[in-house]
Amino acid sequence: RLPAFHLKPCLLAVALAGFALPAAAAQTITVGHTTSDSSHYSEGIDAFKATLEELSDGEFTVNEQSSGALGGERAMIEGLQIGTIDAVVTSTGPLGNFVPETYVLDLPFLFKDYDHARCVLDGEVGQDLLDKIGEHDLVGLAWTENGFRHMTNSQRDIETPEDAQGLKIRTMENEMHMAAFNEMGVHPTPMAFPELFTALQQGTVDGQENPISVILTGNLWEVQDRLSLTGHVYSPAIMLASPILWDGLSDEQKGWFMEAAQAGAEATRAMVSRLETEGVEELKAKGMTVVDDIDKSQFQAAVEPSYSVYTDEYGSEMLDRIRSSD
Ligand code: PAF
Repeated sequence: RLPAFHLKPCLLAVALAGFALPAAAAQTITVGHTTSDSSHYSEGIDAFKATLEELSDGEFTVNEQSSGALGGERAMIEGLQIGTIDAVVTSTGPLGNFVPETYVLDLPFLFKDYDHARCVLDGEVGQDLLDKIGEHDLVGLAWTENGFRHMTNSQRDIETPEDAQGLKIRTMENEMHMAAFNEMGVHPTPMAFPELFTALQQGTVDGQENPISVILTGNLWEVQDRLSLTGHVYSPAIMLASPILWDGLSDEQKGWFMEAAQAGAEATRAMVSRLETEGVEELKAKGMTVVDDIDKSQFQAAVEPSYSVYTDEYGSEMLDRIRSSD
């Protein structure tokens, strides 16, 4: 006997024609970052979301998790590797712990200006590093941007490296940054960003260093009253995806993600550029004392010996490539 629901194929087609099939539910992609909803990363994720939704005609949607809701940058990168997070926008600060070849990007005073940094990351060096990242259970979708880092503190104006000596400064969990600050006579205190505001508020550290966008949109001006425009290191950022998400995508879908990540990077870079000038004025208006006539060559000379931490291990080929591409 045929089961009650069995219909011959021709009759089944007639029966189904009377019903509209429900649209397939969009797949939600969770993207984590540690900066605020008004930050340059958030601006980029808005553009990523709009582009991905449009290209995929609603097949994908994006759920942004900001302000460290999914943990610090290092913890989120681990989450990508085991597939608990789909995608992350992070600085390269903790990335060297996973892909040592990227340490070169975090050397102080390596990039001359924004044009130089963006040109290197969008060129062959950037592509080679994305390929290296792919060998470590991570997928690099696009280079984006955090920006040139500047020092803030609650103790005194920093005009020369000597002024910074003895201060306890929170750094990212990055060997190159810590080596540079050690050379300057600063006490570097590595810490995940979500812990920073409280550490500054409670005086566990005297200061920190970050780009203008982070100082402004992370409200660090509420707990730091001195800013020195040292621009001591360019801080690249990257949009990374989990290989577990990636391996489940078709080539066409991968193309949408790459294009959307590029749109995100452009939006982020535009905001970083705008805040580099406008943001300083806003921070002054919020009460920060700003030292803007820094003699950078003094800082550069102070941190120069820290380069050997990189070159002793990895040589100078990448350094030379970066320096010669401006
Ligand atoms: O200071 C940091 O850890 C980073 O610059 C930040 C703010 C998390 C952005 O990547």
